[in-house]
Amino acid sequence: MTQTDTILEPGRLFIGGEWRDAASGRSFETVNPSNGEVLTTVAEAGKDDVDAAVQAARSAFPAWAETDPRKRAKLLFRIADELEARKDELGRLEALDNGKPYRQARNIDVVDAAKAFRYYAGWADKIEGDVLPAPGAHLAYTRREPVGVCGAIIPWNYPLLMAAWKVAPALACGNTVVLKPAEQTPLTALELGRIIAEVGVPAGVVNILTGFGDPAGAAIVAHPDVDKIAFTGSTAVGKLIQREAAGTLKRISLELGGKSPNIVFADADMEAAVKGAATGILYNTGQACTAGSRLLLEASIHDEFMEKLKARVERMTPGDAFDDKTRLGPLVSQEQLDQVMGYVEKGKAEGAELVTGGDRANVNGGKGFFLSPTIFDRVTPEMTIAREEIFGPVLAVSTFEDMDDAVAQGNATEYGLAAAVWTRDVAKAHLAAHRLHAGTVWINTYHVMDTGAPFGGYKQSGYGRELGKNAIDLYTQVKTVWVNLG
Ligand code: NAI
Ligand code: MG
Repeated sequence: MTQTDTILEPGRLFIGGEWRDAASGRSFETVNPSNGEVLTTVAEAGKDDVDAAVQAARSAFPAWAETDPRKRAKLLFRIADELEARKDELGRLEALDNGKPYRQARNIDVVDAAKAFRYYAGWADKIEGDVLPAPGAHLAYTRREPVGVCGAIIPWNYPLLMAAWKVAPALACGNTVVLKPAEQTPLTALELGRIIAEVGVPAGVVNILTGFGDPAGAAIVAHPDVDKIAFTGSTAVGKLIQREAAGTLKRISLELGGKSPNIVFADADMEAAVKGAATGILYNTGQACTAGSRLLLEASIHDEFMEKLKARVERMTPGDAFDDKTRLGPLVSQEQLDQVMGYVEKGKAEGAELVTGGDRANVNGGKGFFLSPTIFDRVTPEMTIAREEIFGPVLAVSTFEDMDDAVAQGNATEYGLAAAVWTRDVAKAHLAAHRLHAGTVWINTYHVMDTGAPFGGYKQSGYGRELGKNAIDLYTQVKTVWVNLG
């Protein structure tokens, strides 16, 4: 499969079951990060388009909420099947638009997106209420009802997967959706819209608006007829959304940034931990909210570990998304590359020791947004690269003395999305896992996730849990019904 198999059609907005241009007639370009070339244009949604999409979602809501849950399940199963059936094409689109290696896009992102639809299809007819102990001659019971119109605002690092994490549970619970993909990666969301229409999901149940955070995302957040916002993205925008959502008091769930500690004790399986440290920071070119961006090494193993890690990381040379050998793609955009390079400069200026990388990698004649995998050693807590989310292949390494020190350093961040611990001592592993302030803790592994396992943040990494049965809480509200039996 090569990237030039077909020419990409310009994208349009999907509103009320129809494909339309933006009311303003405006559109914008989306770029291939592997070579900096324009792939196609997509419609640029504005406030009028948001109004139209919300109105379509509102009109579709009552019938969808009352649709037999088994019918909703059937449609979600069909979406999952179609995603899998088209994984070559969807993987290709994702690799073109995001820059991630084609095989990774196809075999992980698309397959996991299908899994999310299948998993929540299974939930649709199992969302139950309770019968409650009631005083006197009363019957009291609860119903779990859908929230209403849900705005889903998603980032560019896992475009199709993030859409699936939000659209699948929302639909299973009987909500309707207005989805806004990130402006950097609009293409697979539009393909998802095509599938949703083809399998027979009623018009207006899912609406897809390509466009920018401001005005399109902001208009979804401010809209009085949107009942809930599910957001994944930067902590800065998460805070903005929380403030804006106060105006209409809509429900929000936020999955935000991270600065996750990857903690290696001296008694760890060193080969496994070295591999885990590399994967932890380099998977998805470091553009993962869970990236293991702070490596904390027990002081006694520091030198040996760093030697092995450096050798391993230097073998991970970046490459084109469609080169079969590529395990490390480009950053998503020139803007992201500039931002990450800015952090590399800060690391140097603030006195961290550059062990490897830090320079642009020459792939495709220098046209893509490639950065060599980068390691900084002797990073101290006050340095910018120890504190801020970089969202690139840049690792900050420091050392610790004992468990208390490791946990204290691990928790010394405003974020709390993930953490990892490497040790052969079972008690030590669990103790550290319990003491780390993070929504996910890995023991002797990194980046493992599953549709059935809740995912979300502590502290400024956000709140609300996606995936697993926890997502049902995000997309339903509980009603208590009292009956007088007297
Ligand atoms: P961002 O948070 O600006 O974008 C994420 C989504 O929010 C996009 O769909 C965007 O259009 C939308 N958005 C932006 N401003 C908005 C607003 N005012 N109202 C409503 N929606 C809005 O992230 P960006 O600018 O793409 O990346 C900046 C940094 O954010 C990255 O370098 C990284 O550190 C972090 N980030 C974290 C992610 C995560 O998964 N935790 C994902 C993407 C970025
Ligand atoms: Mg932004």
